[in-house]
Amino acid sequence: MKTIDVRTGVPYQVLIGRGLLAETGRLAKKVLRGRRTVIVGDSNVMPLYGEALRTSLEAAGYDVADAVTFRAGEASKNPKVLVDVLNRLAAARLNRSDSVMALGGGVTGDMAGLAAALYQRGIDFVQIPTSLLAMVDSSVGGKTAVNLARGKNLMGAFHQPRLVVCDPECLKTLPKREMSNGWAEIIKYAMLRSDPLLALLKDPKADAVDGPVIEKIVAECVGIKRDIVSDDEFEKGSRALLNLGHTVGHAVERLSRFRVPHGRAVGIGTAVITRAAVRSGTCEPQALPELYALLKRFGLTDRCNYEPAALLEAARSDKKASDTGITAVLPEAFGRCRLEKISFAKLGELIELGLKR
Ligand SMILES: NC(=O)c1ccc[n+]([C@@H]2O[C@H](COP(=O)([O-])OP(=O)(O)OC[C@H]3O[C@@H](n4cnc5c(N)ncnc54)[C@H](O)[C@@H]3O)[C@@H](O)[C@H]2O)c1
Ligand SMILES: [Zn+2]
Repeated sequence: MKTIDVRTGVPYQVLIGRGLLAETGRLAKKVLRGRRTVIVGDSNVMPLYGEALRTSLEAAGYDVADAVTFRAGEASKNPKVLVDVLNRLAAARLNRSDSVMALGGGVTGDMAGLAAALYQRGIDFVQIPTSLLAMVDSSVGGKTAVNLARGKNLMGAFHQPRLVVCDPECLKTLPKREMSNGWAEIIKYAMLRSDPLLALLKDPKADAVDGPVIEKIVAECVGIKRDIVSDDEFEKGSRALLNLGHTVGHAVERLSRFRVPHGRAVGIGTAVITRAAVRSGTCEPQALPELYALLKRFGLTDRCNYEPAALLEAARSDKKASDTGITAVLPEAFGRCRLEKISFAKLGELIELGLKR
């Protein structure tokens, strides 16, 4: 088992290891005060892992007062389902020392986490991420949210989990397309800090869900995210590094009306900005072949067919853009990036440069 300490306002640990799902009750007992809990999960994950989690919790003496299943998919990450979850917590008579178990991907973690942040002004919650993306990204850092009609994640809170239990065994049932979404974020981390992640990603067994390498990869990524979020818990500065590839990525998602999955779009976004940086002379050229090889290896692409003007327009309306420009994450080499406030005119130039054949 690997343990990663996250030193945010309320510190917590991320535990990574095969078979840990069955240990969740015992592990949670060390950090949670109350003995009553409610499991929240979606309609794909709950039938697969809900019982195992319940059994583990009950064996450790927990009273699992309810298990809430909502329909799988991003569309469920909305205020209505959030309020349904809150009502179930109230019906289960959770009090302020009780807890919520978020069992699933990023949608579950974000929504159950927000429910925990809101219920009685905040109760404990445990993240049990089951998608690769949730393991390396959304379960760590304490951002919780649901979507509003006007945009993604517009209603949310910072609320750190008390514990994250990551069992790579769960990846055996994750569909391939969902794996790619996780790989895109992992490649993003490698571009931010390559050592030793890049070497792990080059291992021929890197993507074997039953092998030992993937566990190391998850742990490395959690370590990188931990370092970045501990420096900037409430996203006032350096945490923006995690947005590498996301300005163009979000624009691609939006232009495709969300038919291009997030990970594929982030892969494209990372390639576009890296190409732009290399072509404008601010990034070592060797970064590109390294990046292309990884994207290819993990089923992603470095190209899209959108016009620069359309991409710029879509990027301008990004939630993270200000009136005058954006904070760009610019690669300087494979494994090293910097932040720079740039105007939309400059962003337009970069997009044009990055898209050129
Ligand atoms: N809070 C953050 O910091 C943060 C960071 C990145 C992304 N996010 C959010 O995370 C969400 C995306 O996360 P996601 O990709 O995990 O989406 P998701 O939760 O919808 O999971 C993807 C799909 O995989 C299924 N699934 C999950 N684990 C499975 C397993 N082990 N076996 C079989 N099926 C499984 C789910 O049911 C779903 O159909 C988005 O809403 C995004 O906004 C949040
Ligand atoms: Zn992302």
